[in-house]
Amino acid sequence: MIDSQNTSISMWLKAIVAIGDNMVIGANGSLPWKIKEELGLFKKITTGHSVLMGRKTYESLGKPLPNRNNIVLSRSMQPRDDVTVLTGPEELSPPSDAKLLWVCGGAEIYNALLARCSQLIVSHIHGNFAGDTFFPKFSHLFKYNSDIYLCDKFVTKIYNNVNCEAPIMKFMLD
Ligand SMILES: NC(=O)c1ccc[n+]([C@@H]2O[C@H](COP(=O)([O-])OP(=O)(O)OC[C@H]3O[C@@H](n4cnc5c(N)ncnc54)[C@H](OP(=O)(O)O)[C@@H]3O)[C@@H](O)[C@H]2O)c1
Repeated sequence: MIDSQNTSISMWLKAIVAIGDNMVIGANGSLPWKIKEELGLFKKITTGHSVLMGRKTYESLGKPLPNRNNIVLSRSMQPRDDVTVLTGPEELSPPSDAKLLWVCGGAEIYNALLARCSQLIVSHIHGNFAGDTFFPKFSHLFKYNSDIYLCDKFVTKIYNNVNCEAPIMKFMLD
């Protein structure tokens, strides 16, 4: 369980996001861009693990992400069969079998949990996009580790939490 007042880092908690050059992540309840390669990379990294998202992001998807344990944070959603609904981050617990819990947004969820994530994977989308939802500043919390993917539309980088005392395993994309 995560204590709501606790800011300690969990090795099993990692965040993943796609950000435009102007830090935008969302527009009118969806993504500001349509980039197949980025969605494919997100799928590859998160499949087989747990994904945690806010109610608004879940509603923008419309259904659970396949082959992942879907957890939605909401104070208003009723319990349901297809996803696990939690009313606050303090209800989170480590996934079993050395799996990871990927914090997948949106902005409210990143704001609540980013400091507790051991790693952050950012796809930096080239360009300034119109939007209404922005990723928080993170340079005081995370330091650059490595690039894991590069194409003409974006570059994907790994950042490690600067406050993590335990060694962080190198992330491998197979
Ligand atoms: N670029 C990316 O990688 C990326 C990733 C994800 C999302 N997005 C975009 O981000 C936008 C949505 O972000 P958002 O910030 O508006 O919404 P959000 O974070 O997806 O969801 C906000 C909702 O989550 C629930 N919530 C938030 N904090 C909570 C807490 N501490 N405890 C319990 N429930 C909590 C509340 O639901 P209730 O109101 O039901 O209580 C709140 O209204 C969309 O445009 C989406 O497409 C982009």
